[in-house]
Amino acid sequence: MTKPTLSHQGPNHELSAMGCPHQVSDVDLFGHGAQEHWYESYALLHQDQPVVRIPGEGANPGTDGYLLTKYEDIERVVKDPERFPPRLHQAIEQLQAAETEGKRLPPINAMLASMVTLRPNHALYRSHRQELTDPWVGPGASRHTAMIEDCANRLIDRFADRTVIDFIQDFARPLPQMVMANMLGFPEDDIPQLAEWGNAQVAAFVYGKGHRNILSEAETEAQFAKLDEFKHYVSRHVTEKRASPQDDMISWLTQVHYQALDRKLTDLEVNGVVYAMIIGGLETTQYALEEAAQLLCDHPDLWSKLKQDPSLIRNFVEEAMRLRSPTQGLSTRINRDDEVFQGVTVPAGSLLHLRFGAANVDPEEWENPLEMNLNRRALTRHLVFSAGPRVCPGAGISRLEQNLAWRILLERLPGMQYAPGNTFLHQPGIMLGTLELLLNIGETSSPQVDLNN
Ligand code: HEM
Repeated sequence: MTKPTLSHQGPNHELSAMGCPHQVSDVDLFGHGAQEHWYESYALLHQDQPVVRIPGEGANPGTDGYLLTKYEDIERVVKDPERFPPRLHQAIEQLQAAETEGKRLPPINAMLASMVTLRPNHALYRSHRQELTDPWVGPGASRHTAMIEDCANRLIDRFADRTVIDFIQDFARPLPQMVMANMLGFPEDDIPQLAEWGNAQVAAFVYGKGHRNILSEAETEAQFAKLDEFKHYVSRHVTEKRASPQDDMISWLTQVHYQALDRKLTDLEVNGVVYAMIIGGLETTQYALEEAAQLLCDHPDLWSKLKQDPSLIRNFVEEAMRLRSPTQGLSTRINRDDEVFQGVTVPAGSLLHLRFGAANVDPEEWENPLEMNLNRRALTRHLVFSAGPRVCPGAGISRLEQNLAWRILLERLPGMQYAPGNTFLHQPGIMLGTLELLLNIGETSSPQVDLNN
């Protein structure tokens, strides 16, 4: 097996809080500053240790965690939910048992609380997706095209008189925030507050320790205090929209007859669906846009290529996400039986950390894995959104947002280059993204008017 080379090593790999690993024993994917060298680590792991045992860090006392980095292993896990049930199922079973036994429930978020009734098993999970989220953020997401275009254009208008922008603050962060607020039916004026609650939701994925993203007790307490405010805010909107529905997702959820359970949704259940949309829909797409912008700066010929042939934008979006997976890894599955991965026996009951970011540059799956290749065969087979029956339900709207954003940015901006002052340091946690991205964009043009409308 040939070792992949870092053919277009970007500047974000030069600065580091942690030393760059040179051999597999140096690798620690979860240490402080590890984000700066994840891709060097993946090359070492693929070559020498594609399955790593994480002693004592399973889901239950006395069990271990296992880090999987190979495409074939992760694909096998996510496509077989019977042999590799989601960790959340265990949590739901524990909640159901505690309720039956009349025990006091631990503090849980609205999403988990709603899952107990709404989607506790595979069949109901499927119905939940097909009936409740697909029409809004899955295959039905195209209904939001005009709204997303309007959000993207308004953001560009705001920085039209500047030649240097912080791409994150000016575009990549607010775009998914505006899209989610409009889709759910929250006023755009509430975005700063919604963003604060969104930060609380993802706190474990940013500040949590180890592969299980564990927050300290004090951090968890602060998180739940914030999330309580969010729950009340959503509840207020649910009550109002139930009484007087508008054209938005929350209104629709309050009215829909959920066929799988042959009834309407309760307020708590609507709250849970909204929670899932916010936790899944903000930072993920933000980082996808931000990393794609870096790739455009790293490949100076790409801008004009995409401008000349916008049909390539779709492939660019997929390749950019494959190369820089926003969700690098999640510890979401438990193996029911003993399993063998790459010759390593993983005992039943272990917690599997699925390293999507590594699978997406696995040299046994991808030729020249670190190269951007817009003509790659079947390039959507990447595991950026996972795969199988639990694949990310919001992939449709995220892809749409990214495709429309790049089409409009390419139309309205003359170009995109790094401006001076970038540190390229990544945010901590399990997502791949920088905290700021200063870009030179030149002179912005007006939105293109569609004369057919
Ligand atoms: C580039 C953007 C995104 C990436 C990389 C991403 C990635 C992922 C991944 C890897 C999973 C885990 C799937 C599994 O367990 O097999 C997931 C789950 C999920 N995503 Fe996304 N996602 C993105 C955007 C979105 C958006 C826009 C939404 C909402 C509108 C969303 C909502 C969710 C939800 C609710 C789940 C949990 C599903 C469950 O209950 O199992 N995601 N996502």
